[in-house]
Amino acid sequence: MATSNTPSHWFELTRAPATGTILGSVSDLPDGQATMLALDTGGGVAQPFHLLLLREGAQVRAFVNRCPHFGVPLAARQTQLISKPGTSITCNVHYARFRWSDGVCESGECVGEGLMPVPLDVSADGQLTIAAIKMGHT
Ligand code: FES
Repeated sequence: MATSNTPSHWFELTRAPATGTILGSVSDLPDGQATMLALDTGGGVAQPFHLLLLREGAQVRAFVNRCPHFGVPLAARQTQLISKPGTSITCNVHYARFRWSDGVCESGECVGEGLMPVPLDVSADGQLTIAAIKMGHT
């Protein structure tokens, strides 16, 4: 069961990145993989904001790298991240499994919850930035 004080949206989290924050280029992300990104949003290297970027061709999805079970990253290092490209990502703490397409937890300790999606903008030259918050959407 998830913790009771879990925020509902990525922008409610401490040091959530601002709209327009640059995340890098689509071409820097391995295609068909989930990439962990630690952003310095004011907490320095000791307290980064953790993101997961899932690339499929030109399409990139972003989720907060925060398991809804204990509020921790799904893995401590990129090499420990468990994913089935295009299908699922699995937390390596207690092995909750999340759907690749929308971050919904399909099995494990947090069924009914999910990873928090983060909206992205992609420029014509493939640069990724945090998109504006739309009310009613994530
Ligand atoms: S922290 Fe328990 S499943 Fe992720």
